Amino acid sequence: MLVAKRAFTLLFLCLRFVVSQSDTSLLPTSWENVQYSRTVDVSRSYTQESIDLQIKNVDDKPISEYYFVLPEDVFEKISLFSAKLRKVDAILDSAILPQQTFTANGKAVKVGVVQLPSPIEPGQEAKIVVNIAYNCNRQPYPGHVELGEKQSLRLSTNKYPISAYNTKTYSLGFKGSLSFSEQESVGSDAMACQMKGNTFSCVSQESVAAYRDPVPISVVFEHNLPLTRVTNLERAVWISHWASTLQFEEYYELINDAAPLKSGFSRAEYMRGQHALKQSGHLTALEMVLPEDSEEHYFTDLVGAVSTFKVLKNHLFLKPRYPLFGGWKYNFTIGWTNQLSQFLRVEDATQESYVLSVPALNGPDDTFYDRMNLSVYLPEEAEVLDVWCPLPITSTEVTTEKSYFDLNKGHTKVSLELKNVVDTVARSEVFIRYKFSSTSFYKKPFSIATSVFVVLMAYYLLKQTTYMIEE
Ligand SMILES: *[C@@H]1O[C@H](CO)[C@@H](O)[C@H](O)[C@H]1NC(C)=O
Ligand SMILES: *[C@@H]1O[C@H](CO)[C@@H](O)[C@H](O)[C@H]1NC(C)=O
Repeated sequence: MLVAKRAFTLLFLCLRFVVSQSDTSLLPTSWENVQYSRTVDVSRSYTQESIDLQIKNVDDKPISEYYFVLPEDVFEKISLFSAKLRKVDAILDSAILPQQTFTANGKAVKVGVVQLPSPIEPGQEAKIVVNIAYNCNRQPYPGHVELGEKQSLRLSTNKYPISAYNTKTYSLGFKGSLSFSEQESVGSDAMACQMKGNTFSCVSQESVAAYRDPVPISVVFEHNLPLTRVTNLERAVWISHWASTLQFEEYYELINDAAPLKSGFSRAEYMRGQHALKQSGHLTALEMVLPEDSEEHYFTDLVGAVSTFKVLKNHLFLKPRYPLFGGWKYNFTIGWTNQLSQFLRVEDATQESYVLSVPALNGPDDTFYDRMNLSVYLPEEAEVLDVWCPLPITSTEVTTEKSYFDLNKGHTKVSLELKNVVDTVARSEVFIRYKFSSTSFYKKPFSIATSVFVVLMAYYLLKQTTYMIEE
């Protein structure tokens, strides 16, 4: 497939260049960061950063790769790494090299590569924006809250960029909260931070050397919302050509990372203060965005009985059995059914090949997933031709699984395992191409023109950020 081929070519290019190098001093210092503006957005339950770079080729030959340094702790919890050209908003090929650990000034770092659309001549400049999202170095502050008390969080990060290149001018800004304050910094530092409009901004007066020693900064900000984290999601999708349906079932293990209650939970106090209606760190409901026209919904938890839920258009509203305060967990299962024709296209009727595209996620907004499995159960004896997932996969597996109703070989199962996923990728599609021989009776419901798939693919290519990672 086109996309897969492009990804491979790029990765191959990068790897050929960096493989067997383990010291960052060996990365070419071809660029200078004329301007490095970093904006940290704390509005969600994980951290998002946008790094605006004006870069200049200071080498004596044209250059088209920019190396972006990621601290190891960020790399461990990163869920998004993408880059674009600033002016034209064009997405650039980019990839993290996960197998490669470099040392810069004694610290382990990882490197992401951004591929510019064409080489930049010596002395010329380019403007790119790198976006990352990750979930680390952020805790409730001071730690516990009373029922009804506003929650603050503390984020720790590096005050200066760790870059492979020298930086001429640098600024750091925090946004996404109404109040920010800097915790007493260690030692004296010239880079002062203050509120400017709705951004807490810090501007450096001096240039910053490549791989400068980290200077920690901790900012405390108000964030009076739950911090929803799914520690494990098992998402299963069952295809039935016979019934012409696609059935989804999802099992969630969820935790609220918000500040725990200082003096325990009192239901009486909770009722008296009408805390269920007030915004705070506790989680009282979950809203899932399902595919259009879903049917046969269900919601169960460990206690077994059917739990409370409501479906409004394609939104499923779940009410956990109890409010989830900081540190509380909740496990539950939801399921629904859609028409198969919404997701399946005939690729080649004579070859009996099909393309299935399923959304990667349907979970709640503002959520980080530590790990998830996506298992797609194809019909008995289906032959998998190709699997394409735009998200970083830790493993892909095609197996056969026998269920009670299978008389012969059993269902073909495609399992993907993913780590560090954020809700914003929910619209990403996972594509599975497979071959399946059936009678013409089965084929009828999907005799939709191949062109639909072509359109879908083009849309997909336009929308996707490229985040590729070695399997
Ligand atoms: C949810 O499931 C996990 C894993 O099986 C278990 O460790 C945890 O105790 C469960 N939590 C609740 C609240 O049932
Ligand atoms: C999900 O992945 C884990 C770890 O690889 C595995 O043990 C588990 O069986 C998988 N679950 C499903 C439903 O495939």
